[in-house]
Amino acid sequence: DTSLPLHGQSVLVTAGGTRERLDPVRYLTNNSSGKMGYALATAARKLGAKVTLISAPTALPQPAGVAYVAVDSAATMRTALLARYADAQMVIMAAAVADFRSPTVAANKIKKTATDYQLTLTKNPDILAELGQQKHHQFLIGFAAETQNLLTYAQQKLTSKHADMIVANDVSSPQVGFDHDTNAVTILQSNQAPQQLPLASKEVIAQQILQVALATRKLQA
Ligand code: C5P
Repeated sequence: DTSLPLHGQSVLVTAGGTRERLDPVRYLTNNSSGKMGYALATAARKLGAKVTLISAPTALPQPAGVAYVAVDSAATMRTALLARYADAQMVIMAAAVADFRSPTVAANKIKKTATDYQLTLTKNPDILAELGQQKHHQFLIGFAAETQNLLTYAQQKLTSKHADMIVANDVSSPQVGFDHDTNAVTILQSNQAPQQLPLASKEVIAQQILQVALATRKLQA
């Protein structure tokens, strides 16, 4: 349907919490369910986009009509994104990317020790920041999940990562963020007042995020 606002455009969506391996049976991850990213992939599809969902492991069914790329660690998510970035019109980084990983992955299961076991972690690359650095025509949307100083941190992410939009989530408030079916967010964009989207299903929030992004892109064009 050529009348749809995202007709023919490539949209990359990341979702889920990355898994950072320690050994063959253990990994570090976080509380992300992937629901917000999957809802965004479906909403973009309904607006006519060619959607690629780059997903860390989740318990969710693959959305219909969407190209699906299964990844696990931040490193594999980064590779999947960079390979498709040049051809994308919009990138939505809804994934909860681990900030740290183990510098080595043990070939065999790490054995119990008599006392404490020390784990040293290495910083992961910030994928959103890297995409922001390389940005040309793409509209880049990031997420900020915080338990305190939400808007201050989200504003810093907007600037430092060169994103076009940051969707800020207060994950300490009830019914919001990780693993819930509902969300309430504040959208930050440069040179625009923050826009609040009150508590609604993640499907509705996803549609509203895309409407705001489309309106901004129209202003920029
Ligand atoms: O800095 P923070 O992790 O709070 O930023 C969140 C945003 O940055 C999300 O959009 C997330 O997908 C992205 N991110 C990333 N690479 C990281 C950490 C976060 O792309 N290593």
